[in-house]
Amino acid sequence: MRDIHNIVILTGAGLSAESGIATFRGPGGLWEGHRVEDVCTPQALARNPELVHRFYDARRAKLAEVEPNAAHLALARLDTEWPGELLIVTQNVDDLHERAGAERLIHMHGELKSALCAQCGDRRPWEGSLPPESLCAACGAAALRPDIVFFGEMPYRMEAIERALARADLFVSIGTSGAVYPAAGFVQTARYCGARTLELNLEPSEGSFLFGESRMGPAGELVPTWVDEVLAARLV
Ligand code: APR
Repeated sequence: MRDIHNIVILTGAGLSAESGIATFRGPGGLWEGHRVEDVCTPQALARNPELVHRFYDARRAKLAEVEPNAAHLALARLDTEWPGELLIVTQNVDDLHERAGAERLIHMHGELKSALCAQCGDRRPWEGSLPPESLCAACGAAALRPDIVFFGEMPYRMEAIERALARADLFVSIGTSGAVYPAAGFVQTARYCGARTLELNLEPSEGSFLFGESRMGPAGELVPTWVDEVLAARLV
């Protein structure tokens, strides 16, 4: 088995659950009272822009009420102290990784605190509500939408992610149900390329059987323990 130098970490909604942000596939299958298809597809945005904007405005406003938890802080510590290559790929659109201090980070499903111009593709930081009539600062069109990757759209930075997975010695998946591709397939890519694989989740996910090791429990407990182990071993 090869030494660990390159680490890729995939995070999902379970990582932010202990901060008070609802996961997607909780009891009842509703996300904050909505079916995901009603608020998280290009069709939903075209059909009812007010609803989609209002929904994401509420999610953005919620960020002011929450704080990074012990799992975000532990991953930020790993990012700072790990001397080898490391990439955190998050499916989360909150800003808790960066508020905890993580820098080697990709938001593959977009960011609540960003607006995307559907006309010219400009992306820029956004605070507060985003009314549908807001004008793009780059092209002037009234075409701003939440910078969220909807179902059916291409996630961000896939080339960089695939490159990191191909080089990974260790792939760790934290707090994700493994229900949404392409992220759900990262474990297979990493394994195929020779990485060790570890899952940290509250309960077995849909893809648990794909991992070399699985540990079950709350991220706020599992992640700091795992980070301590990795930093103590320092197998660079
Ligand atoms: N600690 C660890 N894991 C947890 C915790 C916790 N405290 N609480 C919940 N979990 C686990 C759940 O058991 C579940 O397996 O986190 C997982 C969350 O799964 P989902 O709600 O499906 O979230 P995620 O996997 O991030 O969803 C992927 O789906 O709708 C899309 O784009 C959206 O990025 C999202 C994608």
